[in-house]
Amino acid sequence: MKKTTLLNACLAGVLAIGTIPAVHAEEGAQFPRVTDKVTKEECSACHMAYSAAMLPKRSWRAIVSDLSNHFGEDASLDAATTKHIRKWLEANAADTGGRAPVMLRGVSSSETPLRISKLPVMVRVHKYEVSKRMRDRAGSMSNCNACHRGAESGFFED
Ligand code: HEC
Ligand code: HEC
Repeated sequence: MKKTTLLNACLAGVLAIGTIPAVHAEEGAQFPRVTDKVTKEECSACHMAYSAAMLPKRSWRAIVSDLSNHFGEDASLDAATTKHIRKWLEANAADTGGRAPVMLRGVSSSETPLRISKLPVMVRVHKYEVSKRMRDRAGSMSNCNACHRGAESGFFED
């Protein structure tokens, strides 16, 4: 039933994604996981390590260039670590090695989204099936892994 709703929304052309195609991901996964050790360690201290394929290169650049002012937190790191992480995320972004152009649907090239959870595709996917109760329990739509147990491994179909 749940799946049907999402699928119908897709077929209706609201959102042309059924399942998000998995490229460079583990078998069955929709998004490649963060395989870089440094990125994984530093960027999962406060929330899950988001797949680099979920945002375009310009977004990662903007996010990692402003870590001292990171969504109200100071997430700054030393210059060498920052550079390492920025390079890795940029190389594996939705519009580079991560190859997940579906995430960028509805995002104009002049926009630099800073939140995965606010991407038009994500808003649509979550519009119909996330109850207020689920949302409250998760605390924030940024906490993908509160609702998707396999989120960090790139699985979102549960
Ligand atoms: C000191 C804690 C902290 C660290 C370390 C941290 N973040 Fe965050 N991050 C946050 C907070 C807080 C939010 C906002 C969460 C919310 O709105 O619920 C956030 C949100 C985000 C979002 C947007 C999530 C969404 O809503 O789609 C991205 C992307 C992100 N962080 C990337 C990173 C990256 C990349 C790193 C590693 C360089 C990192 N974060 C390290 C605290 C942190
Ligand atoms: C409050 C719960 C909740 C949170 C938080 C949440 N989701 Fe979801 N998500 C859902 C539900 C419910 C669905 C629709 C049912 C399904 O397919 O799992 C869904 C569907 C999806 C899908 C489509 C899966 C498919 O079938 O193709 C993707 C991709 C996705 N979410 C990614 C994310 C990402 C990335 C985040 C974090 C930035 C996130 N979600 C946060 C509840 C949540």
